Amino acid sequence: MSLFARIREDIDSVLERDPAARSRLEVFLCYPGLWAVWIHRVSHQLWRRRIRLLARLLSQVGRFFTGVDIHPGALLGRRLFIDHATGVVIGETAIVGSDVTLYQGVTLGGTGKGHGKRHPTVCDRVFVGNNANLLGNITIGENSRVGAGSVVLSDVPPNSTVVGVPAHIVYRNGERVLITDPHDIKDPLSDALIALAARVDELEERQGAHELRLEPFAAEEAEREAYHMELERRQYVSMGEGI
Ligand SMILES: CC(C)(COP(=O)(O)OP(=O)(O)OC[C@H]1O[C@@H](n2cnc3c(N)ncnc32)[C@H](O)[C@@H]1OP(=O)(O)O)[C@@H](O)C(=O)NCCC(=O)NCCS
Repeated sequence: MSLFARIREDIDSVLERDPAARSRLEVFLCYPGLWAVWIHRVSHQLWRRRIRLLARLLSQVGRFFTGVDIHPGALLGRRLFIDHATGVVIGETAIVGSDVTLYQGVTLGGTGKGHGKRHPTVCDRVFVGNNANLLGNITIGENSRVGAGSVVLSDVPPNSTVVGVPAHIVYRNGERVLITDPHDIKDPLSDALIALAARVDELEERQGAHELRLEPFAAEEAEREAYHMELERRQYVSMGEGI
C-alpha cells in the first residue's frame, strides 16, 4: 500500500469515527493524533533499522508537537485513531491492533516491574476512554471497551466493557454483568466485603438454628396463651351468669 493510500485510509477512518470531523482537509490539518501516528511510522522504521537514537529523537519531536508520546518500538496496527491526542503514552513493548480508538490521556504503560514484554496488547477494534490506564503485559480482547478513567490491571476478554479502578466487567457479549460476589472486585474494599459477607452468612446460620430451637417453645407459648384466654373468658361468663 502506498504512503498516500495509507494516509487517505487513516483520514477516512477518522471521518467515520468522529462526528465532529467534516472534511479530509480538516482531518489532515487539525488532528494531532494522526500526525503522531504518522511520525511514529517513520520513527518505528528507524528503530527497526537499529538507528535507535534518531528514532527516539524523532518520537520526542512528535511528542513536542502532538502531546502524544509513542515509543518507537511500539507496534501499531492500521487506522489507529488517537482523538484529542494530548497526554497519550504508548510504551515500548505495547502492541495495538487495527481500528483501535484511544482518547486523550490514555496510558498503555508498564507496572514498573520487570523487563521484556511489559506493556499491554490491545486487540482490534478496542475503544479506550479518556484517561484510562492499561498497565502491564495484559491483553484487551477484540471489540472491548474501556471506560474513561479506568485502571485495567488484568486481561479483558473480547466483546466486553470494563470500568472502574481497578476495572471490572460491566458488559460481556452485549449482556449486563452484575457483580454478586465480592471476589469479582479486586480492590482493598472487597476484602472487607468478603469478611462482611462471611459474617452475615454465619449470623444467618446461627439465627436459623436459634429459630429451630425456639419453635417448640413458641408452639407451647401459643397454647398457653390460648388456654389463659379461654380461662379468662369462662371466668367472666361464669361470673356474669352467677350474678
Ligand atoms: C465505558 C463506556 C463506554 C460504557 O458505556 P455504556 O455501555 O453506555 O455503559 P452504561 O452507561 O450502561 O454503564 C454501565 C455501568 O458502568 C458504569 N460506568 C460507565 N462508565 C463508567 C466509567 N467511565 N467509570 C466508572 N463507571 C462507569 C455506569 O455508571 C453503569 O453502572 P450502574 O449500572 O451501576 O449505574 C462509557 O461509559 C465511557 O466511559 N465512555 C468513554 C467516553 C470518553 O472517553 N469520552 C471522551 C470524550 S472527549
